[in-house]
Amino acid sequence: MLNTLAIAHYRSLDRLVLPLARLNVITGANGSGKSSTYRALKLLTDAAHGRLVGALAQEGGLQATYWAGPETISRAMKAGEHPIQGGIPKRPKALQLGFAGDDFGYAVDIGTPNYSPGPYFRDEPSKFLLDPGIHRECIWAGSQCRPASTLLDRQGALVKVRDGRDWQILSRDLAASDSIFSLTDPLRAPEALQLRERMRAWRFYDQLRCDRDAPARQAQIGTFTPALANDGSDLAAALQTILEIGDARALHDCITDAFPGAELEIAVDAGRFSVGMRQHGLLRPLAAHELSDGTLRYLLLAAALLSPRPPELLVLNEPETSLHPDLLPALGRLIVQAARHSQIIVVTHAGRLVSALERHTDCQSLPLEKEFGQTRLAGMGELDLPAWHWPGRS
Ligand SMILES: Nc1ncnc2c1ncn2[C@@H]1O[C@H](COP(=O)(O)OP(=O)(O)OP(=O)(O)O)[C@@H](O)[C@H]1O
Ligand SMILES: [Mg+2]
Repeated sequence: MLNTLAIAHYRSLDRLVLPLARLNVITGANGSGKSSTYRALKLLTDAAHGRLVGALAQEGGLQATYWAGPETISRAMKAGEHPIQGGIPKRPKALQLGFAGDDFGYAVDIGTPNYSPGPYFRDEPSKFLLDPGIHRECIWAGSQCRPASTLLDRQGALVKVRDGRDWQILSRDLAASDSIFSLTDPLRAPEALQLRERMRAWRFYDQLRCDRDAPARQAQIGTFTPALANDGSDLAAALQTILEIGDARALHDCITDAFPGAELEIAVDAGRFSVGMRQHGLLRPLAAHELSDGTLRYLLLAAALLSPRPPELLVLNEPETSLHPDLLPALGRLIVQAARHSQIIVVTHAGRLVSALERHTDCQSLPLEKEFGQTRLAGMGELDLPAWHWPGRS
C-alpha cells in the first residue's frame, strides 16, 4: 500500500505531500489541483513504463508543467506588503515526483537535460533543448529516503545499486530520457524489477467513454478479460469474466441497486461479445448502443471495480461524469466494496459521492485548496503531514 504521495514544482503542486489510506477521496474547488494530482500519479507509472519524458513532453514539457510561481513566497508577499515576484533563481529547475509504500519508496527528479549533440552535428543548436531529462532517481527501503536506506541511486547517467555496505555500478551511461526502470537487473537490482512490475499494474480509469461511438457500445471479440481496458472497449468480456470467475452476486446486486428490476445480458455472436440489459417493462433486452450514457458508465465502473484480479492501486478520475446524483450512493458502495481488495484513490467533484465514501470509516478525505497559486491540503498544518525528504542533486 502507498502511504505517502509527494509532488514538487508540478503545475500548482509546488510542494504537496499527501498521506494515503486504503480508500482516499481527493476533492476541491475548480482549479484546486485535483487533476494535476491525478496526472502526477499517472506520470509515476509512466516512469515505470519507460515513457515519463515523452508523457511530460506531451503536456508541453517543463515550460508548461513547471510551477509558474516564485521559488519562495515571503511573509511580506503573503501579507500583501510586497508584490509577488520571482527574483534570481537559487536552485535549478527540478520537477519531482515520489511515493513511499509499506516496503519501498521511489522518487524521480526531472529538469532541463544535460544533453549535447554528437560530434557530427555542429552547424545548428539541438532541436531537443526543450526535452526534459531525468537527473536523479532513488529507490529506498522503508518510509523515508535516507542515505542508509537507499537501495538504488541514479545521478545523471550513473546508476549504482547497493551491495551490502558497498555500491555496484549498474550503468554509467543511462540516457537522460530513460528511467532506471529501463535497466532492471533481476540479479543485482531485484527491488527495481519488483517495483516496476507493481507500478505497471496500477490501474487508472479516466477515459471511460460512453458517447454514441464509444467502443463499449460496439460488439468486440470476446476473450477472457480479468481487467477492464482503460477505454472500456472490452466491457462485455470483462462483465462476462466477472460472471464466470468473479463475484457474480456483487455484480447482480450493484445493478439492481442502481436500476431496480434490471438484469445484465451478454450476447455472443460469432465470437463477438456485446452488452445488453433487460429492463423492467420492456419485451426485449436493450443493446449497448441503446443504453443511456449514465447506464453504460455505471456498467463500466462496475466492471472496473469488481475485477476478479484486483490491482494493488486503483485510481478513478471524476467517475461521476454523466451519472445522475441518485446513482452516486450505489457507486459509493461499489467503491467501498472494492477497497477491501485494492487501495483506491478517487478524484471527484460530486458531493453525494464524497458523503457516500466518507461514511466508510477507512475513508480518508483529502480536500485540496489553493493559496497564492499553490495547492495545499486544506485544514492540515505542515507538522500534520507525513515527513518527506527529496533526494538532492549533487
Ligand atoms: N505551470 C503551472 N504553474 C502553476 N499553476 C498552474 C500551472 N499549470 C496549471 N496551473 C494551475 O493549476 C491549477 C490546478 O489545475 P487542475 O486542473 O489540477 O484543477 P482541478 O482541481 O482539477 O480543477 P477542475 O475541478 O476545474 O477540474 C489550475 O488553477 C491551473 O491554472
Ligand atoms: Mg480537473
